Amino acid sequence: MSIKPLIILPDPILRTVSKPVERVDAPLQKLADDMLATMYDAPGIGLAAIQVGEPLRMLVIDLAKEDETPAPLVFINPQVLGSSDERSVYEEGCLSIPDYYAEVERPATVRVSYLDRDGKTQEIEADGLLATCLQHEIDHLDGVLFIDHISKLKRDMVVKKFKKLARDRQPARMVG
Ligand code: NI
Repeated sequence: MSIKPLIILPDPILRTVSKPVERVDAPLQKLADDMLATMYDAPGIGLAAIQVGEPLRMLVIDLAKEDETPAPLVFINPQVLGSSDERSVYEEGCLSIPDYYAEVERPATVRVSYLDRDGKTQEIEADGLLATCLQHEIDHLDGVLFIDHISKLKRDMVVKKFKKLARDRQPARMVG
């Protein structure tokens, strides 16, 4: 397993609409394992393939706490089949938008179909943090970020801050 570099806001790659996975094979499983390693290293509880620069509809989640046994979940080609009218609010963050958190309101429960790491069709009804995390990660597959769900004023401020940080990371250019 290897840790991959994370794509950070405002990199336009994050706005890519990812393509469906056509075959669950060894290279794809290796990518899933690398994504999990990258997520644990960060550390985070969810990661979409596009966040390591791979425009594929795959995401990984592990909600186990630090002192618990890891419980990795791999979702390939996830599809939201339905969601509750009931909403819930969580303070969300994103490995592609480090150190920024904001409350986001989403459906409290979602039913999702997907292929697991072995390519088997699965369906789950998720609630609580898993429902939020799944919706956040599935958004990534469509190029949507959690900051798209907050006010424009707040979003503009975050984007501006990250644009400045990206500029500051650029090496000084030689003149003459
Ligand atoms: Ni994210």
